[in-house]
Amino acid sequence: MNDTGTTAQRGGGIPAQPEAGAATPPAPREAATVTVPAAGVIPGAGPTERPGERRTVRLRESGQGGEADEPPRYAPQWLELRESADAAARAAELVDPLRIRLANLPRRGGGLVVHDLGCGTGSMGRWLAPRLDGAQHWVLHDRDPYLLHFAAVASPRAAADGSRVTVETRRGDIARLTPDALAGASLVTASALLDVLTGAEVEALAAACAGAGCPALLTLSVAGRVELTPHDPLDAEITEAFNAHQRRSGLLGPDAVTAACAAFAARGATVRVRPSPWRLGPGDPELTAQWLRGWVGAAVEQRPGLAARAGKYLAARLAACAAGELRVTVHHSDLLALCRPAGAAS
Ligand SMILES: C[S@@+](CC[C@H](N)C(=O)[O-])C[C@H]1O[C@@H](n2cnc3c(N)ncnc32)[C@H](O)[C@@H]1O
Repeated sequence: MNDTGTTAQRGGGIPAQPEAGAATPPAPREAATVTVPAAGVIPGAGPTERPGERRTVRLRESGQGGEADEPPRYAPQWLELRESADAAARAAELVDPLRIRLANLPRRGGGLVVHDLGCGTGSMGRWLAPRLDGAQHWVLHDRDPYLLHFAAVASPRAAADGSRVTVETRRGDIARLTPDALAGASLVTASALLDVLTGAEVEALAAACAGAGCPALLTLSVAGRVELTPHDPLDAEITEAFNAHQRRSGLLGPDAVTAACAAFAARGATVRVRPSPWRLGPGDPELTAQWLRGWVGAAVEQRPGLAARAGKYLAARLAACAAGELRVTVHHSDLLALCRPAGAAS
């Protein structure tokens, strides 16, 4: 289950990978190599490798029989790198209406049962569990057993009022989630997941939540908008190519929130959407550089004709980042869907 032979560390998250090279990217000179993401890595969402770096998780190799059919995997190091920016970005104002709804739901057995879909290493639970009152049992879903391992080890232990928080993990494909899987759920959560689903999967998710009568907090979905300061004429072209890459193979990408709003509303839910942008500046050089590499790499994979200009663009952006002169806003949205409680009159 642990592909690298490393161990998870409670609180500390992902262990250091000493062979992975310097923590801060070297200041680029003329043109950076745009790394088109390896097969099996999620472009734009990390990891992308710097020259000379070793991969830190076993990734899908093309043409390797059974592995070729495996879904792409997320590096836990990338999820760890983004966790504090995610926490700062989350739309905290959605927590109050959620708390009110949860307080009014019938509780089976006294505690809340929260299903976190696509939990990764569990950052959603670490953020939300201490903001909710009462005993909680989190059911952490992911298709990647390696990430589930980290999520279980670094799970939150206490609610806002000190009540106990427990977790279990479930490995499986969210695309096959049925209302039965959510039976007894008080809440469904997901973070940075909606945009990697298809329209049919989002419909199925909304149907499962509506069937279970539980609210859903679906956070940090990409909005397809990015602002970089200072401005560069290539920003818009890279953004457009990146968004096209996100929509490949029927994935929703930046259309995810609109699709989810429609899917939940069609099933009688009240839906609220709030912005949850990353605001990256001189204090976030590592995350900004890693994000830049993934963002530009995915754009070039989508539009190979961009490669030469994108290489120079990336070099200049990384240099500005290393000099503390780059600011990036990556827009996301958080969505709270309050489904009609099961048994309520329609
Ligand atoms: C961008 S990561 C987000 C992880 C975590 N929620 C966070 O915010 O850090 C997306 C996660 O969803 C999982 N995932 C994506 N599609 C899935 C599917 N169809 N079934 C199960 N898990 C899936 C991936 O393995 C990954 O852990």
